[in-house]
Amino acid sequence: MILTDHYYTMIHLVLVCLCIKSFSSLAADTISGNQTLSGSQTLVSSGGNFELGFFSPGASSKYYIGIWYKKVTKRTVVWVANRETPILNNNSAQLKVLDGNLVLLNESQVKIWSTDLNSTSSNNSSVVAVLGDDGNLVLRDGSGSNSTSGQRLWESFDNPADTWLPGGRLSYEKRTRKKQLLTSWKNTEDPAPGLFSLELDPDGKQYIIRWNRSDQYWTSGAWNGHIFSLVPEMRLNYIYNFTYIDNANESYFTYSLYNPSIISRFIMDVSGQIKQLSWDNTDWNLFWSQPRQQCEVYAYCGAFGSCNQNSLPFCNCLPGFNHKSESDWGLKDYSGGCVREMNLRCENNGSSTSNGREDKFLTQPYMSLPLHPQTLAVGSIGECESSCLGNCSCTAYAYDENGCSLWNGELLNLQQLAQGDGNGRTIYIRLSASSSVFSGGKNNKGVVIGASLGSAVAVFALLAIVMAVMWRRRRKGVGSSNGVEGSLVAFGYKDLQNATKNFSDKLGGGGFGSVFRGTLPDSTDIAVKKLESINQGEKQFRTEVSTIGTIQHVNLVRLRGFCSEGNKKLLVYDYMENGSLASHLFHANELKVLEWKTRYEIALGIARGLSYLHEKCRDCIIHCDIKPENILLDAELCTKVADFGLAKLVGRDFSRVLTTMRGTRGYLAPEWISGVAITAKADVYSYGMMLFELVSGKRNAENSEEGKVK
Ligand SMILES: *[C@@H]1O[C@H](CO)[C@@H](O)[C@H](O)[C@H]1NC(C)=O
Ligand SMILES: *[C@@H]1O[C@H](CO)[C@@H](O)[C@H](O)[C@H]1NC(C)=O
Ligand SMILES: *[C@@H]1O[C@H](CO)[C@@H](O)[C@H](O)[C@H]1NC(C)=O
Ligand SMILES: *[C@@H]1O[C@H](CO)[C@@H](O)[C@H](O)[C@H]1NC(C)=O
Ligand SMILES: *[C@@H]1O[C@H](CO)[C@@H](O)[C@H](O)[C@H]1NC(C)=O
Ligand SMILES: *[C@@H]1O[C@H](CO)[C@@H](O)[C@H](O)[C@H]1NC(C)=O
Ligand SMILES: *[C@@H]1O[C@H](CO)[C@@H](O)[C@H](O)[C@H]1NC(C)=O
Ligand SMILES: *[C@@H]1O[C@H](CO)[C@@H](O)[C@H](O)[C@H]1NC(C)=O
Ligand SMILES: *[C@@H]1O[C@H](CO)[C@@H](O)[C@H](O)[C@H]1NC(C)=O
Ligand SMILES: *[C@@H]1O[C@H](CO)[C@@H](O)[C@H](O)[C@H]1NC(C)=O
Ligand SMILES: *[C@@H]1O[C@H](CO)[C@@H](O)[C@H](O)[C@H]1NC(C)=O
Ligand SMILES: *[C@@H]1O[C@H](CO)[C@@H](O)[C@H](O)[C@H]1NC(C)=O
Repeated sequence: MILTDHYYTMIHLVLVCLCIKSFSSLAADTISGNQTLSGSQTLVSSGGNFELGFFSPGASSKYYIGIWYKKVTKRTVVWVANRETPILNNNSAQLKVLDGNLVLLNESQVKIWSTDLNSTSSNNSSVVAVLGDDGNLVLRDGSGSNSTSGQRLWESFDNPADTWLPGGRLSYEKRTRKKQLLTSWKNTEDPAPGLFSLELDPDGKQYIIRWNRSDQYWTSGAWNGHIFSLVPEMRLNYIYNFTYIDNANESYFTYSLYNPSIISRFIMDVSGQIKQLSWDNTDWNLFWSQPRQQCEVYAYCGAFGSCNQNSLPFCNCLPGFNHKSESDWGLKDYSGGCVREMNLRCENNGSSTSNGREDKFLTQPYMSLPLHPQTLAVGSIGECESSCLGNCSCTAYAYDENGCSLWNGELLNLQQLAQGDGNGRTIYIRLSASSSVFSGGKNNKGVVIGASLGSAVAVFALLAIVMAVMWRRRRKGVGSSNGVEGSLVAFGYKDLQNATKNFSDKLGGGGFGSVFRGTLPDSTDIAVKKLESINQGEKQFRTEVSTIGTIQHVNLVRLRGFCSEGNKKLLVYDYMENGSLASHLFHANELKVLEWKTRYEIALGIARGLSYLHEKCRDCIIHCDIKPENILLDAELCTKVADFGLAKLVGRDFSRVLTTMRGTRGYLAPEWISGVAITAKADVYSYGMMLFELVSGKRNAENSEEGKVK
């Protein structure tokens, strides 16, 4: 493994040398006085970690000067010079040092980006720009032969884009009161500064995220010397070593990597979340992100957009509204939000168009409502509605135990909650009375939409009837056999509620949710797992579940079926009479002590199950949570590995795996917390740790509380 890495590095170095020889006369990592960089020329840092040159993001035809990882096979840009001033032709544009500044000249040799230093002290032909192996581009006075000495005039670490690299800092300058911001890209193809930015709040010794440089929607909580108070999971962070510096001129945080050989970055993402990602030689793994829920990001779905944490895509327009910009939505920039399909009646001057029909309100239940309503003391919903109708700038109202609330202008931060969510409120959205959502459209488009809406309603009605019939059949106890998907049964939530006597007999609480005992109408015993915080879309969830369902082995617990109704996600397994290995090992006084022969068989069984998951399945599955609680024993003490495939349900978002695997630190392979690639070997490590326990009958780590996140 290490050998091949060395070979790789050697091959890389040789290639880099060859490239530089054949394409350009630039010193590998430096632009000096009379050199220019253009076309496909690049700078490569001395250790080969970073590269600087022209790039063009995604399908865009615009070019930017950027710095990216040289060793990461997916082009990942960490810094951009001309974020707002792209060029169209990389061959006639030039990056050069001019009058003591690093400048970018466009095709017509006009300066479109510069380090903008006052050149009085640095108008000197000896100024050079050097790309460091830490990803920092430094402009320095390079007089004298030693290129590492000389006064630093400017550095990219002081002017970050969306990425905070190890060794970089986000600071507050006390004298000038200037803050360095980490600012998201506008969208995945446009590095121009977007709406979300991370900054240091020096008074609170905390970081905050703002929307449009104004509204704050997240804070890290104060630094206590070890962690930020509202980010307790930092205690589990063995990747980043944060340090706080506070001197007369500035205060800032900086961080280093405990293991300098891993590649990791901290970004302000276009999603409005800050994220820590590490490269595992194939892809970027998300280790941590905040705010945890996408819908907590301020105005994420824009005006008249509605965010739904339990569906993908997260953003949708309210009924009666369309995407403002189809192309922006396509690039996952929802900030433009939605616009009305049809103007409000009251906006049209004169009554000629309104035909005497007024605006109407559309009822939207189970919503989390926009901030800062205007409240009105009126006695009835009718008065509340007519107050809103009376002012054309009023776009919505709500009337409930909080009284009458009115909103003017654009509606931001609407969130669709799950049906039955206790926090859900009903909002009434103002629409033109002739809007298609009220179905009686007048113009052609309206008719078409109305017609399709009509047929949709018919289909829904039909569906409703079918479902009602199924419902009744189920309630009669036919139960287990409706909606078979592959070999899996799609259960209704009500069925499982009945089968488990309303989830009364709890068997245990694993990393991904609690498990309850139940009995199907045909007297089959089952174990029902209620999954927590799975934010996958319906389709993806079903795909993953049916993949898990196809995996069958004598040493793996069989998945019988599942339930997916809104955010109610449950898995139904065979019930295992003899419970978990943990109960046999650690509560031995109540149960019969396991014989050596049995222990040996158990160890073999687990190994067989795991090796099947790792090597014999079509898609290799890493279990990620091997521990005695997840090893079950059936009536004949045959070993069954449980909970496999669940880590897959959370995707490459390892941050969730880490936070859900509370208290299982005793089995965590070091790679989980050091940021290197997670492979099947992580399971082997956990298996090894478990073998100690199988032999000794004692926990490896007595106090697993310590490892808990909260
Ligand atoms: C500029 O280039 C010439 C040759 O092309 C070289 O002799 C000279 O040293 C360079 N000047 C600087 C400041 O690098
Ligand atoms: C420069 O532009 C040409 C033509 O548009 C393109 O083929 C080439 O890939 C570009 N080079 C870089 C480094 O992007
Ligand atoms: C170069 O930049 C200037 C100033 O922004 C602009 O007027 C000019 O059109 C640009 N040239 C090209 C070829 O884009
Ligand atoms: C550059 O110099 C001008 C006047 O000489 C001054 O107003 C400006 O603040 C200076 N800028 C910086 C960044 O020092
Ligand atoms: C300008 O460069 C010369 C050597 O080329 C050096 O001696 C001098 O200190 C430099 N001046 C400034 C202001 O950097
Ligand atoms: C820098 O010095 C050169 C001559 O060495 C001069 O032509 C140029 O105007 C100077 N620039 C500034 C901004 O002082
Ligand atoms: C450059 O100077 C620094 C100290 O200023 C010294 O440690 C380093 O060895 C020098 N490097 C070279 C290549 O001379
Ligand atoms: C952001 O704030 C500026 C004023 O600071 C305003 O002009 C702009 O419209 C705001 N952007 C959005 C998307 O609301
Ligand atoms: C963490 O960073 C600080 C400051 O750079 C350093 O003194 C300390 O040794 C680092 N800790 C570890 C474990 O690397
Ligand atoms: C603060 O700034 C002053 C003037 O720029 C400088 O002399 C001093 O060394 C700085 N102090 C620290 C702690 O960096
Ligand atoms: C309504 O009338 C005002 C001036 O009376 C005009 O500025 C505005 O554009 C008109 N709006 C519409 C929708 O016709
Ligand atoms: C409508 O409401 C807005 C915002 O409260 C207010 O500024 C405006 O004066 C109101 N217009 C009328 C006609 O009452």
